[in-house]
Amino acid sequence: MQIEATAPISAILLFLSSMTVGAQEVDPIRGEKLFKACSNCHEVGEGAKNKVGPHLDGVFGRTAGSIDGFKYSSALKRAGEEGLTWSAESIDAYIEKPRDFVKGNRMSYRGMEKAQDRSDLVAWLERISLNSPSADINAESTSEVVGFAAAVLEMDGDPDYGEYLSGDCVTCHQISGQADGIPSIIGLPKEYFVRSLFEYKTNVRQNEVMKNRVVNLSNEEIAALAAYFTGIQPQ
Ligand code: HEC
Ligand code: HEC
Repeated sequence: MQIEATAPISAILLFLSSMTVGAQEVDPIRGEKLFKACSNCHEVGEGAKNKVGPHLDGVFGRTAGSIDGFKYSSALKRAGEEGLTWSAESIDAYIEKPRDFVKGNRMSYRGMEKAQDRSDLVAWLERISLNSPSADINAESTSEVVGFAAAVLEMDGDPDYGEYLSGDCVTCHQISGQADGIPSIIGLPKEYFVRSLFEYKTNVRQNEVMKNRVVNLSNEEIAALAAYFTGIQPQ
């Protein structure tokens, strides 16, 4: 009985150690740099918030598709309900070919080809995500921002007007949801979207480019932009 119970465990351990050692040493420091491929859409670490993608704090051991308040695809949610949890192996497989891993998920990332890159990245992610309890979205916001945002979130933004206004945004933020240097803003949670704009308005976030775009927007215009941008799906 006892031998039967321990055998599969040691087999798994053997399998795990051969995965890391087989592909040379893992290098979490390199992994941190590689996370640039993810950081336009994902935050991790203390105070991490949902952006275009769910925050990755405490992601190891987490059920797929389970962060409250993030709008997942039904495909990823279903995979979680059927038992998919995030581990070094499953994250590795997901980021190798996001499209193939869970059919119908909507992470619009083309994939990380090299096994060494993936294991370095995953090693770093595991370290950073274990130590930091996740915080509420926009925990750093001032109460002023929270108040401004609450007023806008109560309004019924007009998505058609938002689409019209978006001409002033899509020169930089790609409508496809791809993020190359400039963060993607397609599919952000509405509360996050609205608060970000007020954070630029009030210098909680200091970015001249964005400040210039939002400083003269009225509440009605912000509500319309939020209705439009949070209503379209990344490709
Ligand atoms: C263009 C935006 C984008 C990029 C780049 C991106 N992701 Fe994602 N990611 C998403 C979205 C959106 C989801 C949710 C997918 C769904 O609901 O089907 C997601 C989901 C995930 C999940 C599942 C989390 C959960 O709560 O179930 C993990 C893990 C993940 N991404 C890791 C990564 C890593 C690691 C990278 C970098 C190699 C990366 N992602 C790059 C947008 C992105
Ligand atoms: C000239 C280029 C440019 C234009 C035009 C522009 N943005 Fe931005 N936007 C940026 C950059 C760069 C950032 C990242 C700034 C930072 O580091 O905080 C950003 C950040 C954002 C964010 C926060 C994203 C996040 O993940 O936290 C939102 C929301 C946003 N922009 C919305 C808009 C809207 C709405 C418009 C149109 C009214 C717009 N932007 C126009 C360049 C631009």
